[in-house]
Amino acid sequence: MSIAEKFVAMEYGPAPEDPKEVLVWLDRHGRRFGHFIDGAWRQPVEGVFFDTVDPATGEKIASIALGSAADIDAAVQSARKAFPKWKALSGHARARFLYAMARAVQRHSRRLAVLETIDNGKPIRESRDIDIPLVARHFYHHAGWAQLLDAEFPGQTACGVVGQIIPWNFPLLMVAWKIAPAIATGNTVVLKPAEFTPLTALAFAEICTEIGLPPGVVNIVTGDGSTGEALVKHPDVDKIAFTGSTEVGRAIRAATAPTHKRLSLELGGKSPFIVFEDADLDSAVEGLVDGIWFNQGQVCCAGSRLLMQESIAEALIAKVRDRMSTLRAGPPLDKAIDIGAIVAPVQLERIRRLVDQGVAEGAVCWQPPMVLPSRGLYYPPTLLSNVHPASIVAQEEIFGPVLAAMTFRTPSEAVELANNTAYGLAACVWSESLNVALHVAAQIKAGVVWVNCTNLFDAACGFGGYRESGYGREGGREGLREYLEPAWFKDAPKLPGVHKPKPKEVPESVAAVPAIDRTVKLYIGGKQVRPDSGYSIEVRAADGRLLGEAPFGNRKDIRNAVEAARKATAWTKATAHNRAQVLYYVGENLSQRRDEIARRLGEAVGEKQAIAEVDLGIERIFTYAAWADKFDGSVHNPPFRTIAIAMNESIGNVGIICPNEVPLLGFLSLAMPALAVGNTVIAVPSETYPLITGDLYQLFDTSDLPAGAINIVTGPAAQLLRTLAEHDDVDAIWSFTDDASAAAAKKYSVGNLKQVWTNEGRVIDWFDPKQAEGRWFLEHATQVKNIWVPYGE
Ligand code: NAI
Repeated sequence: MSIAEKFVAMEYGPAPEDPKEVLVWLDRHGRRFGHFIDGAWRQPVEGVFFDTVDPATGEKIASIALGSAADIDAAVQSARKAFPKWKALSGHARARFLYAMARAVQRHSRRLAVLETIDNGKPIRESRDIDIPLVARHFYHHAGWAQLLDAEFPGQTACGVVGQIIPWNFPLLMVAWKIAPAIATGNTVVLKPAEFTPLTALAFAEICTEIGLPPGVVNIVTGDGSTGEALVKHPDVDKIAFTGSTEVGRAIRAATAPTHKRLSLELGGKSPFIVFEDADLDSAVEGLVDGIWFNQGQVCCAGSRLLMQESIAEALIAKVRDRMSTLRAGPPLDKAIDIGAIVAPVQLERIRRLVDQGVAEGAVCWQPPMVLPSRGLYYPPTLLSNVHPASIVAQEEIFGPVLAAMTFRTPSEAVELANNTAYGLAACVWSESLNVALHVAAQIKAGVVWVNCTNLFDAACGFGGYRESGYGREGGREGLREYLEPAWFKDAPKLPGVHKPKPKEVPESVAAVPAIDRTVKLYIGGKQVRPDSGYSIEVRAADGRLLGEAPFGNRKDIRNAVEAARKATAWTKATAHNRAQVLYYVGENLSQRRDEIARRLGEAVGEKQAIAEVDLGIERIFTYAAWADKFDGSVHNPPFRTIAIAMNESIGNVGIICPNEVPLLGFLSLAMPALAVGNTVIAVPSETYPLITGDLYQLFDTSDLPAGAINIVTGPAAQLLRTLAEHDDVDAIWSFTDDASAAAAKKYSVGNLKQVWTNEGRVIDWFDPKQAEGRWFLEHATQVKNIWVPYGE
């Protein structure tokens, strides 16, 4: 036998990792764990426990406390009590704690890795070389942010008590992603790990004690969905950060709507893995192994849809099959295993069901010949080809080692297929032509795009989704923003309610003089149009005089406006310089017509306010004309010979419910930042003085703003808000009137999980630039996409 033949014929021997240290640790705890509350272990109030099981053997590992509402309440109270002192600590003091966490994770790295593998079923190779090092990196990186917080985020303050709910696929890594930014910024935390994988979070609780973290800063309550629900509903929680399924994400969005708890959601995905004919196919195949078979495919950003250029499809599939045949599935504690166990029977069942359904819909299923262990939960690496883009296996997240393959002909077809999903978490693009790869990356609707690489993560680079993959980012500067808010906003009083001037008795002398007819129209697609309803609303001054009539817009008008906005590619594709020019021109035109607009507006809000609104309005427009070509992203330099280009991208169609009390300046303060970064807008102007629409569209018409970039629908704001919030082609909804409207915007946005930004019914001083303009607005008008590009040979 030649050496080459021997090399091929060689078999792997067993290479088991020794779990002894973990077993000692479990025994030390009597294999029974309470909650970690206020710096100490607490028995669950209701005394109920459940089992956590090793999915590779089916054996019970330990008993875990099932958290009830009473346990959650105790943890929230502890976090609340700890909050003022923790927030008041210097950034440097907090940095020391985070640094100590990083060091402790490194000291215990092997124990943590083995524990993770036993609890979750993932190969030890992955928990040891990927999960745990990234956990340490996350705490180091955020120790740095704690140190720099005051200098880098002036005027910002912690949200308060944060409830964090995490899934089972990266249990300790999710602990780090959630806790590090929260406590670095001065929040205190109640974290609920997933029911299948609570152990490493509990080991982390012990680290908190070991490093002397003040009691109550981090609380860990174990349990299931009901425990999570109790945390979401607790009235004294200020923010919820959730990672998990889109379905639960939706439930949490609805549950948090009335209370204005802040919310970040990291949900599912169905990420495309696009291979062009000029790609290095062998590298792409290795990338694919990581993309879909890492962690048995139980990865939210798994490259689960393989999109191949037709000309290389056959060759690529052959290579993929060859490589799949070399994958080794088996006991995850074996150091030479690629595919470990599936986390739980219910997950295995779900994978089987979806694959069966895919085959019933015409997919061809191929699995390499391999012998799976006789006990434990295993599923072989699976390739589904001949998949129709509408098939369930092309649309739904399987969360298993299953790849669905499809073909495309041209780059634009690839983009269309890639974006043919409700999700938008990640994407991979493989091509040796950087031009093609970056061109495609820019068009893909996803929070992360890996060019010629896959599944790279770093604490400095934000991670999170577009569309139904959720909102908010984890990691980097943008991740910190999720745990901070402007200090003034937190203290701002609530508006008393919707301010609607009541028509007063009109003095006879005035009533006798016929009013000058002033009927404005809706503004849709660059045209002044009559409302579908054929009705209009009388608009009266504070003293009851009739000022004119505004259209009574309805669902149909909103739908037309959304459609017109979507078509306004002349705006969404315009360069930043062009956008700046147009906005300056709007400012110039407002200044030309300053006096007449102020005079009309003065009839509704008084002369003094009207002049201030116009003058400050001109300034505000100039501010965003200035920002249009300056709100840039950044370039990260993560530790893998890769650059990650963090781009601020527009969100798309933004629906805006404008403040009542400041009709012109309020409108401009919201519409201008949205437009400046390339969004299209559907605005509902002040209900108090909707006649401002007439002045606005004359401005826009004379300022080269492309048709559809901004659309204005007047009418009953609450009804129009609901239509906008429920509309699947609206990507973000902003509500800046009263509390009830802010809650409604959140509640009705669950359909496509559009981004929601509101004033929570608080008073904003639109005349104060510190409150009413700048980065806070631009950050809400954009979402960050990280494009990773490797370099070197
Ligand atoms: P899940 O979304 O039900 O669970 C995630 C976390 O939320 C767990 O800690 C769970 O206890 C908690 N939870 C469940 N219901 C809750 C509620 N009503 N209120 C508050 N918290 C609640 O996900 P599950 O059932 O574990 O997995 C189901 C599917 O979800 C998977 O097959 C996969 O497709 C997807 N998934 C996606 C993840 C991602 O990272 N994107 C992570 C986990 C699951």
